[in-house]
Amino acid sequence: MHAPGLIDTARKLVADDKGLLAMDESNPTCSKRFAKLGIPQTVEARRAYRELIVTTPGLGESISGAILYDETIRQQKKDGTPLIKVLTDAGIILGIKVDTGAKSQAGHPGEKVTEGLDGLRDRLKEYSQMGARFAKWRAVLAVGDGLPSRGCLEANAQALARYAALCQEAGLVPVVEPEVLMAGEHTLERCREVTEEVLRTVFHQLYVQRVMLEGMILKPNMVLPGLTCPRQETVDEVADATVKCLLRTVPAAVPGVAFLSGGQSGELASARLNAMNVRFKTRLPWALAFSFARAIQQPALEIWRGEEANVPAAQQALIHRARCNCVARLGEYHTAMENSPEMTSLRDNPAELAEVR
Ligand code: 13P
Repeated sequence: MHAPGLIDTARKLVADDKGLLAMDESNPTCSKRFAKLGIPQTVEARRAYRELIVTTPGLGESISGAILYDETIRQQKKDGTPLIKVLTDAGIILGIKVDTGAKSQAGHPGEKVTEGLDGLRDRLKEYSQMGARFAKWRAVLAVGDGLPSRGCLEANAQALARYAALCQEAGLVPVVEPEVLMAGEHTLERCREVTEEVLRTVFHQLYVQRVMLEGMILKPNMVLPGLTCPRQETVDEVADATVKCLLRTVPAAVPGVAFLSGGQSGELASARLNAMNVRFKTRLPWALAFSFARAIQQPALEIWRGEEANVPAAQQALIHRARCNCVARLGEYHTAMENSPEMTSLRDNPAELAEVR
């Protein structure tokens, strides 16, 4: 294990009020999002879109690390420059998604277990040689009647911990992502209860598998009411419930908590992150940061729609969301910052946004 290097990278990922940009959608997920907007679902369209993202002027001022997909880490700009060179030149740390997806879990109707441990040691070695310094693995936990089950929770927590141990052995910082899904009618209190149990189980497994907490990042969901729950709590209530849950479960040795957005609109994700930092920042042992995909990318994707002419406007939308989240880390975000008319549409409809996944 490379303890000093891992600790240094983990700290850098959450330093200077920056955060992570998840741009690691698998091809099927990317295709779903492209199809909704009439963008061709081709290798070239994905390459062009990822070129748009990484060449966004000033990206490195707000983004500390970018999480790529296997296809993207091997792609180039139109002029032949590797995308990973563009990112490293911008001072952005390279990350890579290494799970191979959440698959139906045998004997557990309605639940999934994330796969990808077979051959992982060799894949991590290759990614490390390519320049990756951190990795991501996402587990998904559905909330429902009797869900998540103990079997689903434990299988996913153990896989996350084994992945994290392999990452650290290879010198990569593991971003550990257990996502309690927003889909459903459940209350915020039920989400809190489930998230608490999930995080307890995950940290127990991280301990059992000898993962060094100082050299990892936790990527959890915020504690939210289900998308179709009639009662939707205020931004401050969400901030309080989320931080209370994290304080009960996340050891102080972990340097950073970088939230996923999970289908929240960009504005709500920024506002909730902001509220947590306003109310608690000076009293927390870990940094509260972001690792958003949709909450940073969605407005840009909607503007781009596969058209070269839309690239500058799309990049402006992307950098705007990235900056809003940096400001939210400082606790200085205000909705008045959302003054660009291009950024409406799906942002007002979180149910539809979540469905784009
Ligand atoms: P969202 O922010 O769109 O939830 O994506 C984060 C992520 O990386 C999921 O694995």
